[in-house]
Amino acid sequence: MKNMIILFAGLKGGTGKSTLCNLFATYAVEQGFPVAVMDADTQLSLYKNFFEDLATLGVRNVSTPWRIWSLRADDTVKDKMSKIKKVPGLVIIDCPGSVDNENLKYIYNSADIIVMPFRFDRMNVRETVTFAELLKKISKARQLYLPNMVTQYDEKREELRKAMERANSDLGKYGRVLPGIPECLAVRDSNTLGMNYKQRWAVREAYNVIIEEINTLINK
Ligand SMILES: Nc1ncnc2c1ncn2[C@@H]1O[C@H](COP(=O)(O)OP(=O)(O)OP(=O)(O)O)[C@@H](O)[C@H]1O
Ligand SMILES: [Mg+2]
Repeated sequence: MKNMIILFAGLKGGTGKSTLCNLFATYAVEQGFPVAVMDADTQLSLYKNFFEDLATLGVRNVSTPWRIWSLRADDTVKDKMSKIKKVPGLVIIDCPGSVDNENLKYIYNSADIIVMPFRFDRMNVRETVTFAELLKKISKARQLYLPNMVTQYDEKREELRKAMERANSDLGKYGRVLPGIPECLAVRDSNTLGMNYKQRWAVREAYNVIIEEINTLINK
């Protein structure tokens, strides 16, 4: 398979980049793609989760759905990205919630698809638009916006409809708004070792669109 670099990125912290990057990697493996994950965040949340989850199993030679690398401080990002570009299959990268990092430019620049999780509120939609504009200048990647932690309370429906309209009209200029992912315990408590039916149910609509976008790029 061709190489494809998919980022989970955004300007803001805590929108679900690491969580959704983790679940997407597992989902893509289930769909038959070869997958490697790279943690490009200095906090190394996903990288640490991976080894912590492995340790809880307490057994040797378990097979994890995907393997993980970290981007170490001493790595030359430019060199590392050119190596990563040669890896067959999907390389899914968890990015930090900031852009004020020189190294990130190389990463954004080598991406084929950038998935941007955001929360469905006014401020977050606005910040995502700013990020989309900025990215357009430095990356040719296909931009996909992923509404996360969508609340299902009835009283929020009207608010949600407005946020959805706004996101579609403002972000639609730069890329594609994906179906939302609900706020739920199953997603919150996900790990790097696999995925259960509740998690699969929560992410399937959005992730099927990402898979569709990957297939379109592969067949180009
Ligand atoms: N759909 C969801 N439902 C419930 N909890 C969620 C959902 N998505 C993410 N979370 C929770 O929200 C918190 C923040 O998520 P996460 O760490 O993935 O965000 P992040 O964007 O990677 O943050 P950072 O910018 O700090 O790297 C975590 O506790 C995570 O479990
Ligand atoms: Mg993170």
